[in-house]
Amino acid sequence: MDYSLSFKDKSVIITGGAGGIGLECARGYLQSGACVYIADYSTDNLSVAEKELKETFPDGKIFFIQADITCKKGIEKIISAVRENTGTADILVNNAGVARSIYSVNETEEGWARVLDINLTAQFFMCQEFAREFFIPAKKGKIVNMCSLGGVMGIPAAAAYSASKGALIQTTKALACEWARFGIQINAVCPGFVDTPLIAENTADERWLGYVTMRTPQRRLAVPEDVAGAVLFLSSHLADFITGTSIVVDGGFSSGS
Ligand SMILES: NC(=O)c1ccc[n+]([C@@H]2O[C@H](COP(=O)([O-])OP(=O)(O)OC[C@H]3O[C@@H](n4cnc5c(N)ncnc54)[C@H](O)[C@@H]3O)[C@@H](O)[C@H]2O)c1
Repeated sequence: MDYSLSFKDKSVIITGGAGGIGLECARGYLQSGACVYIADYSTDNLSVAEKELKETFPDGKIFFIQADITCKKGIEKIISAVRENTGTADILVNNAGVARSIYSVNETEEGWARVLDINLTAQFFMCQEFAREFFIPAKKGKIVNMCSLGGVMGIPAAAAYSASKGALIQTTKALACEWARFGIQINAVCPGFVDTPLIAENTADERWLGYVTMRTPQRRLAVPEDVAGAVLFLSSHLADFITGTSIVVDGGFSSGS
């Protein structure tokens, strides 16, 4: 058994790969020899990521795809790019997601639907398309769904977010049971609070930051590297007999106070 972590010759697709956690995962996979497809709907984030990654990994095989995963066309664009370039996919990191901070008495149908659409429905259809197109025919594939502590614990003023991530954890389990016979492993990573643009409003608030830091046994927020480590592990051969599970990356936040 080779215990070293290498993704040489693997094709990895990362949605939301031009921002925070997704971009750190891209750095990790590129460092470990993978060919990486970054799919993101933000042209601004994509151009910043492209500049940085091309400078850091001049020999890296990297593809940038501007696509919104909430529409069928966006998913098709990602599938086509993979088909045309490497012809196959080995790993899908379903990382794109949005947060929404609003008290439930003020929630709207549109706001609720948008969060569920991006954080749950789009993730399911990404899994479905990649399974149909690449993983089932190849009889192998690894999927990591980016969930959240919010899917494990209730987060105040984030009912839609918690619902979407909790449902994605359950979807991950259901697909793991259904697709194990096709050689597909699918798992979830549930980060606590990670210092990225997604929670910039919170981290700018000294009181919030102080509370979360004190409430976390490891006394800090997560950084994207903490989460990327779990993603790389779950998508590696070291996790070949792990499916349908979630790794919580929260510095002990959910273990008690
Ligand atoms: N930051 C946190 O504290 C935290 C905690 C738990 C879970 N998460 C989850 O981690 C994932 C990444 O979060 P992050 O903190 O890196 O956020 P981020 O905002 O820094 O990056 C998210 C990226 O996803 C892209 N994206 C969003 N919606 C998209 C769509 N419909 N189609 C394509 N791209 C889209 C954005 O353009 C952005 O580049 C999300 O699923 C989030 O819910 C984050």
